[in-house]
Amino acid sequence: MKIAVVGTGYVGLVTGTCFAETGNTVTCVDIDKSKVEKLSNGQITIYEPGLEKLFLRNLRENRLKFTTYLAEGIADAKVIFLALPTPPGEDGFADLKYILGVADELGKILKDYKVIVDKSTVPVGTAEKVSAAIAKNCQCEFDVVSNPEFLREGVAVEDFMKPDRVVIGTESEKARKIMGDLYAPFVRQGNPVIYMDEKSAELTKYAANSFLATKISFMNEIARLCELLGADVDMVRRGIGSDDRIGKRFLFPGIGYGGSCFPKDVQALVKSASEVKYDFKILEAVMDVNEKQKVNLIPRIKKYFNSKLDGKKIALWGLAFKPNTDDIREAPALYLIEALVKEGASIAAFDPEAMKNVRELVGDKITYTENQYDALNNCDALIIATEWSEFRTPEFEKMSERMKAKVVFDGRNVFDLEQMKELGFYYESIGRKTIVP
Ligand SMILES: NC(=O)c1ccc[n+]([C@@H]2O[C@H](COP(=O)([O-])OP(=O)(O)OC[C@H]3O[C@@H](n4cnc5c(N)ncnc54)[C@H](O)[C@@H]3O)[C@@H](O)[C@H]2O)c1
Repeated sequence: MKIAVVGTGYVGLVTGTCFAETGNTVTCVDIDKSKVEKLSNGQITIYEPGLEKLFLRNLRENRLKFTTYLAEGIADAKVIFLALPTPPGEDGFADLKYILGVADELGKILKDYKVIVDKSTVPVGTAEKVSAAIAKNCQCEFDVVSNPEFLREGVAVEDFMKPDRVVIGTESEKARKIMGDLYAPFVRQGNPVIYMDEKSAELTKYAANSFLATKISFMNEIARLCELLGADVDMVRRGIGSDDRIGKRFLFPGIGYGGSCFPKDVQALVKSASEVKYDFKILEAVMDVNEKQKVNLIPRIKKYFNSKLDGKKIALWGLAFKPNTDDIREAPALYLIEALVKEGASIAAFDPEAMKNVRELVGDKITYTENQYDALNNCDALIIATEWSEFRTPEFEKMSERMKAKVVFDGRNVFDLEQMKELGFYYESIGRKTIVP
């Protein structure tokens, strides 16, 4: 099948590449000229495990193309995916200007039947708005389908190639058949394709992300309670996670959820609810807990240093909002950097993939090191903000040699308490007792 993907960011590039991988011919469209140029020349623009190999193969085999011209990109396509940004507007509502802008343009250039698919995360009612924006200038037949994306950055290729489920919101039989054919290779193991109406599909995505964010904030509150009561959140997590109704996943406390999705999607759902005069109390609390959790380590670090952070050298391991990605949107590390630099501390940071993006954002406000150990040279404390695998079993001896003081504030609970005690570290983590040597 011939496909167009409009918006070639994290979702668009993975979507385009994976559809090409199953034999479709895909043209990705983006307004960012330098991005299109790089991609056309075989230079991948994001870090996503496993993506580059598929991207290069499909580029070589001419199943994957890139352009800045919408009309050229969609000319032969039967299905047009919109993988455009839906950032929060100033009022907290999802800003639909990118989606509706492209819908408006599409209306002017559609010549024959096409399925236009909202892959972006969009509020309930967006499919109708997209339809209206296209219909304004268009005489030909088309269908607008809601097909929210559930991939997780860091495992996006795997998630796309073998999705837990595919949600397709459409009431058109014709579009349903086309979408079913397109996704058939991805659900051969029997994972369900769930058909529903457009509005339910749109809400499914917000409900999923908001539920997951709720799980995280819930565990962060349990962690705080553990600290106050002297319990261990790791034990509580294992204790509750073994109940099938609760499940083991997504129960890890930390320094808050970040990324380009959870913060904006929870907020957007609360806003959507308010539009129909519904006060979504649980999600208000989820957001509130997360705001506090993002900077949870700051007062603890200040307390340790008697509020004298001026001149302290802090090592920071992890900048990405989670491991296996270079995405730093709403990354808790950024909030830590801002707060610590304001207090006069200097920061030496290491992240396996995200340093380039942070450098572009904060420049020389902090220093960047070539490896995780160089960040530790002469430092007064280490903060762990992202649980990259390589931080889990480091060479502790090397750490001890490099650090001025063996002090660790771990926002991701990557180390074992007993081990830290044996190694003589001062070690504060989330929801567990503090190890004092
Ligand atoms: N990132 C994720 O993990 C994830 C997962 C599921 C759903 N989503 C949703 O998918 C959507 C896209 O997210 P993303 O992370 O890929 O965003 P992104 O910012 O990485 O990519 C968006 C791309 O769209 C391009 N663009 C903007 N305006 C355009 C236009 N008029 N024409 C063509 N291209 C244009 C930008 O240049 C950018 O390359 C959002 O709604 C997001 O909520 C994201």
